[in-house]
Amino acid sequence: MKLKSSPAKLLAGTIKVPGDKSISHRSIMLGSLAEGTSSISNFLEGEDSIATLKAFESMGIKINRPFAGEVEIEGVGLHGLKPPAKAIYLGNSGTAMRLLSGIMAGQKFTGTLTGDSSLSSRPMRRITEPLSLMGAKIKTENDGTAPLIISKGNLTAIEYQMPVASAQVKSAILLAGLYAAGKTCVIEPAPSRDHTERMLQGFGWNVEKKESKVCIAGGGRLKACNIEVPNDISSAAFFMVAASIAANADVTMTKVGINQTRTGVIEILKMMGADIKIINKSTSGGEPVADIRVKSSRLHGIAIPENLVPLAIDEFPALFIAAACAEGTTILSGAEELRVKESDRIAAMEQGLLTLGVKAKATMDGMIIDGPGKFQGGTVDSFDDHRIAMAFAIAACHAQSDILIKNCENINTSFPGFIETANAAGMKINQA
Ligand code: S3P
Repeated sequence: MKLKSSPAKLLAGTIKVPGDKSISHRSIMLGSLAEGTSSISNFLEGEDSIATLKAFESMGIKINRPFAGEVEIEGVGLHGLKPPAKAIYLGNSGTAMRLLSGIMAGQKFTGTLTGDSSLSSRPMRRITEPLSLMGAKIKTENDGTAPLIISKGNLTAIEYQMPVASAQVKSAILLAGLYAAGKTCVIEPAPSRDHTERMLQGFGWNVEKKESKVCIAGGGRLKACNIEVPNDISSAAFFMVAASIAANADVTMTKVGINQTRTGVIEILKMMGADIKIINKSTSGGEPVADIRVKSSRLHGIAIPENLVPLAIDEFPALFIAAACAEGTTILSGAEELRVKESDRIAAMEQGLLTLGVKAKATMDGMIIDGPGKFQGGTVDSFDDHRIAMAFAIAACHAQSDILIKNCENINTSFPGFIETANAAGMKINQA
């Protein structure tokens, strides 16, 4: 699917972005492994979290979906999953594959995890190595990529110093730790999103956290609970940037998750001079939420502090668009992880920005962008990456003419309804 995004100056209104992807995945996983029926509301019905839902259905879990966004999971307890009849296909979702690997490592049967071409080229050694240290038996392709064949091993607890700040790695180890004898501990080099730890506690499992170390003891029980998934800050980020760069904007995103392990995008945009207000704070599903009001502003370039990188890791495609419109130079470093996301996001964004006339230079671990520029029209490729596609779509809020974006199908992995939501706020996006 090719999209055409036409220049838009006026953005207004209230925007409800879909439920959080990370939390939606975890709600299916823990709901399935819990004892009793868990009800989830505002579940993200995107392709990634549906892949997780189907994976658990294929292991015998009954999941009812009475209304849009409502999911009831009949949990079977930690040891109640059944062998799937065939390989489990996880599409484009790195979170599904890495977290599920931790769970599969604790089962008494063999399971095979596969994905699309992007997921099949993403690094999996970061999880297979620590899980093997715990006693898991995992076969990968030669270069440590999917398909992953995971068979029964007797798991024992480890204390693992993670080489990269990754919530997916941390979560895979903690989920395997549910099945391991002893206390499993993970030490993070920098904070990453903590939804697994919070949700485990919500399901009644004790989690010890001291500074950068998180520990859980194996051999307990998860008890069913109800979760209202907050709206996804990673999806809201596109509208935070769109409103900041549009000539005349005042938009409010409602009930967005503002867990402090996810709010790097707000901090970075505020440092760049964005007009962002956090209002109506409350909690939802064990997570802090708030409305986020954003108005047009004059952005300026900054050197992005490296400690904010893991806290905004999914938001850099959108932040590069902000940087292109900002006065002066923006420098990102310490973000080599962007090279192994759904696409190489440093290369993909550099290529598209250059096509649109922006002075962008990729470095090994980041990007240098000189602004302010106005995007000239042109055709860019999203490389099948949902966040690259949406980033170039919102660039039209500061563009001279139409931006065409190739290969946009995967927007549905995280943000079904993106085009309708964006157009309702004043953007002009159509299928080309
Ligand atoms: C996620 C963690 C992040 C993020 C991904 C979702 C999660 O990946 O990029 O979109 O739900 O745990 P890493 O943990 O690999 O940084």
